[in-house]
Amino acid sequence: MNGLPPLLMVEPVPLFLAPMAGVTDLAYRLLACETGADLTFTEFTAASGLSRHAKHSWLKVESDPRESPFIPQIFGGDIDEMVQTVKLLQDRADIIDLNFGCPAPKVCRNDAGAALLRNPNKVVEMVRACIEAADIPITVKMRLGTGSGPNTALEICQRIEAEGVERICVHGRTLRQRYSGESDWSQIRDIVEAVDIPVIANGDVVDAKSAAACIEATGAAGLMIGRGAIGRPTIFHEIKRDLGWLNQKPHWGEDNPAVARSWCWERYLQLSSEVYEEGYCKNLKRHAVSFTKGLPGASNMRVELHSVQNQQQLGMRISRYLKELTSTEVAA
Ligand SMILES: Cc1cc2nc3c(=O)[nH]c(=O)nc-3n(C[C@H](O)[C@H](O)[C@H](O)COP(=O)(O)O)c2cc1C
Repeated sequence: MNGLPPLLMVEPVPLFLAPMAGVTDLAYRLLACETGADLTFTEFTAASGLSRHAKHSWLKVESDPRESPFIPQIFGGDIDEMVQTVKLLQDRADIIDLNFGCPAPKVCRNDAGAALLRNPNKVVEMVRACIEAADIPITVKMRLGTGSGPNTALEICQRIEAEGVERICVHGRTLRQRYSGESDWSQIRDIVEAVDIPVIANGDVVDAKSAAACIEATGAAGLMIGRGAIGRPTIFHEIKRDLGWLNQKPHWGEDNPAVARSWCWERYLQLSSEVYEEGYCKNLKRHAVSFTKGLPGASNMRVELHSVQNQQQLGMRISRYLKELTSTEVAA
């Protein structure tokens, strides 16, 4: 017994950083691994771009030897393009993840992402073709259905398990819901019980309490965390710590949120300088906003960011702000 209330007594499962466009760049994924994430994915990348060798698409699927396993996520509505992409990517990837969950109109208009859930036969055909083309495992991330008509995820999961998919992640919302309402963990449980491959539960896990509740409700083999990890990569460590899954001290030494935030920012800048040719990623400003959201004086400080000349200055301005916060918080 570790003294935690019964709700929090759950067996450890792996924690996944969710793929998030504009957020989970390579440096951020490496950071999340250092702060407790067990697996990471690239943001979704268009098979139409990758199969045509578009530079901006290939930049999204860069990795680093420290990222292991490396799991690029791809999406598309055209089976030949998906197959072509799997063939092109598989030498550099450990696993390839197929996206059947994106609700963005510009994706769904092309019969890709979550829109494919209206057509289980096409999903199965696409998955089969990708598995046939691949020498490495294929995994899938999906929503429950489109939200018009009965949900198709359970049927699809059973059929793609039979095709040889090795793991499925389910976000417990429909396409129509986008991010409204709640993730329906009971429908994830139905899928967990209907297949033998690992099912990862996704949606609305934001801390140890919701993590424990989600594991109990779904019986899933792992949890995937998205929005809860934006600007807060320490969420993985915090969940493991609060559920009694680990005893070691974090890299940032003490459980002071300001110190943790500042450590993560410095580490993100350091990793960026190591992995990006220019030394920074285009997502830097977005991370700057997320890392400082809700902190004392952050909105005033962010006004100053409008006059910042370049990414280096931006990085330094946030560093200074977070360091000052650390000293005031520690002094308080
Ligand atoms: C900014 C943002 C970008 C996202 N991009 C992707 C993506 O590229 N691929 C994907 O499968 N899901 C994407 N998602 C969905 C998340 O992976 C996840 O399924 C969703 O946010 C629900 O999990 P959460 O409640 O933990 O946030 C994105 C979500 C957000 C908020």
